[in-house]
Amino acid sequence: MANPLQSRITKLSTVTISFIILLCILGFYTTHYTFTQPSTETQNPINPNPQSKCHFHDTYLSLASNYTVSHYLRSLTLHPHLAGTTGAHQTAQYVKTHFQNQGLDTKVVEYSVLLSYPTYLSLTAHFSDLGTQEIECSELGQVGSRVVRPYHAYSPPGSVMGMAVFVNYGRGEDYRALGALGVNVSGCVVVARRGGGMSRGGVVRRAASEGAVAVLTYTEGVSVKGVERGTVMKGLGDPLSPGWASVVEGGERLERGDDEVMERFPLISSMPISIETAEVILRSLEGPQVPQEWRGTLNPKVGRVGPGPTVLNFTYQGEEKISIVRDIFAVIRGTEEPDRYILLGNHRDAWTYGAVDPNSGTSVLLDVARRFAFLRRLGWSPRRTIILCSWDAEEFGMVGNVFFLEFLGFLKSFFIGCLHHHLILRVERTAGTN
Ligand SMILES: *[C@@H]1O[C@H](CO)[C@@H](O)[C@H](O)[C@H]1NC(C)=O
Ligand SMILES: *[C@@H]1O[C@H](CO)[C@@H](O)[C@H](O)[C@H]1NC(C)=O
Ligand SMILES: *[C@@H]1O[C@H](CO)[C@@H](O)[C@H](O)[C@H]1NC(C)=O
Repeated sequence: MANPLQSRITKLSTVTISFIILLCILGFYTTHYTFTQPSTETQNPINPNPQSKCHFHDTYLSLASNYTVSHYLRSLTLHPHLAGTTGAHQTAQYVKTHFQNQGLDTKVVEYSVLLSYPTYLSLTAHFSDLGTQEIECSELGQVGSRVVRPYHAYSPPGSVMGMAVFVNYGRGEDYRALGALGVNVSGCVVVARRGGGMSRGGVVRRAASEGAVAVLTYTEGVSVKGVERGTVMKGLGDPLSPGWASVVEGGERLERGDDEVMERFPLISSMPISIETAEVILRSLEGPQVPQEWRGTLNPKVGRVGPGPTVLNFTYQGEEKISIVRDIFAVIRGTEEPDRYILLGNHRDAWTYGAVDPNSGTSVLLDVARRFAFLRRLGWSPRRTIILCSWDAEEFGMVGNVFFLEFLGFLKSFFIGCLHHHLILRVERTAGTN
């Protein structure tokens, strides 16, 4: 089903980047103002002209505080909060309580969506010279079992064996280049690096159409042991309710087996691996040489694309569950045009602790709430209605964000703007070791 709402949202997300930049500039600007004590109302600056927009503007800027932001960030990242889990529920409570404690009109919308979690993963490499090696599928630094193992959400289950082959980004042109080198990936487990304009799901689908039996992806630019979790679902929003909001009670849903649902999931299993693991596999390959432009940050000892002789045995088992997720909103009604809406939002769910993505953004959202609430107590109200949004289940394919737009679909002609500040901080990582 063609979905005009979804294409709107796709466009929205491309605009996101510019909003992030705008917000970063704003954030930079505001945090360079000294923090005046906001904790008690008795210390409010006495305002000679309470109606002055300029006064409210200056007060808003003066309320910026990296202390409160860092406090919120710490609280939000105390435990992993993957959507649909207990940790996510606790984080939702924290955000809701924060909005309520600020005296803001707070709404929680619960809905149920299809989410996906791993239950069993194994990857074994059979090297021609070194025998068999079981490859660690977890990630260094994982604390106990509370962090979900690296996986691709919505990957179908499977257990396969095939020769390893390197396919660069896994684009059509990469397979054509392999074909020119005499490499056929049929029956192979492909190893692909992330990028080249390919979505995760796109890489898996393309590999399946080339006859591959499974896909392992690695991401450059993160630490050599780091693994990038992600979704392989095609499109955005809950797969069982495309185009409408699946509210908990009486929500209408498609069946998991319906064609419209099935075509959003790939047909072969996949998993993310670290660049370190990828190099262990790729270094053992024979066959034609790796084209120079495919090398990226790969170790110089990686020389050949395969296929084989290394054989990979890869098993993925997962469970798909209808889970409850929660979008949380604080609404500040506008006085002049209350039926026009400015959205300022960010998702809340994270694959693990989410210190950068998304909580660098969420902690700033909570601080914006605190500052708006303070201005409200001084008598300020916005011209248009401002909605602060904390969306759930974004990592699974913008499920919560899309749900919200579906839910409020009838309002869409009234949207003035939407700032989606996904990441406020980008941690600079240096390529190479450590
Ligand atoms: C807050 O920001 C100021 C200026 O950017 C900086 O000097 C200060 O160290 C920061 N404080 C904390 C607690 O990070
Ligand atoms: C690759 O191998 C498969 C199975 O052997 C075969 O069906 C397919 O035609 C081959 N593809 C190409 C492009 O030669
Ligand atoms: C492949 O891995 C699976 C799951 O760990 C295991 O049950 C199976 O015996 C392995 N197959 C071979 C041939 O090693």
